[in-house]
Amino acid sequence: MPPKLGFALTGSFCTLRPALSAMETLARDWEITPLLSETVQSTDTRFGPAAFWREEAARLCGRAPMLTIPDAEPIGPKGLFDLLLICPCTGNTLSKLARGITDGCVTMAVKSHRRRGGTVLVALSTNDALSGSAPALGTLLDRKGFFFVPLYQDDPANKPNSLKYREDALIPALGAALAGRQLPLFA
Ligand SMILES: Cc1cc2nc3c(=O)[nH]c(=O)nc-3n(C[C@H](O)[C@H](O)[C@H](O)COP(=O)(O)O)c2cc1C
Repeated sequence: MPPKLGFALTGSFCTLRPALSAMETLARDWEITPLLSETVQSTDTRFGPAAFWREEAARLCGRAPMLTIPDAEPIGPKGLFDLLLICPCTGNTLSKLARGITDGCVTMAVKSHRRRGGTVLVALSTNDALSGSAPALGTLLDRKGFFFVPLYQDDPANKPNSLKYREDALIPALGAALAGRQLPLFA
């Protein structure tokens, strides 16, 4: 039986296509259930229509995405995932998680998964990682069960507060998180 991965997409729209590529790669070794934040489900942007993300995630994983709080609620009680990945993770979702706010599908998934001590891996992508979202980043770096994909400053000259996860470190970070290890954050 392949290990079971929850793969949550949140509204960092410019990184959704690379996230879907990672989903396609990971689907070879993992049984993946996609989850979409309400923003991803409902927002058409210059990066694509909302329906595209939902349909692509369903196609790549071979199953319907979780979209609502009731969809995500059984994750913990039924032990549905070996690991929950949030990729990409917005500053908004990061800050909600740090504050214990559970008002949507993805935050509910984390709460339910953590109920039984499950591992959460965060692939952060946000322009305010070193400003408005910095307190949340600090909080979750020090919270049990949370691990981060290594980060870099994607455009220090023009976006000095922005951090983005390293796409090439995603799969190593998954392995490390499963073993309870945090990879060096800025290697
Ligand atoms: C085109 C577009 C691109 C965005 N890119 C990002 C991003 O890269 N990182 C981020 O944190 N928020 C980004 N946002 C803002 C989020 O979508 C917004 O904060 C939203 O409330 C996030 O909801 P969610 O975290 O529930 O998905 C973007 C919004 C738009 C319209």
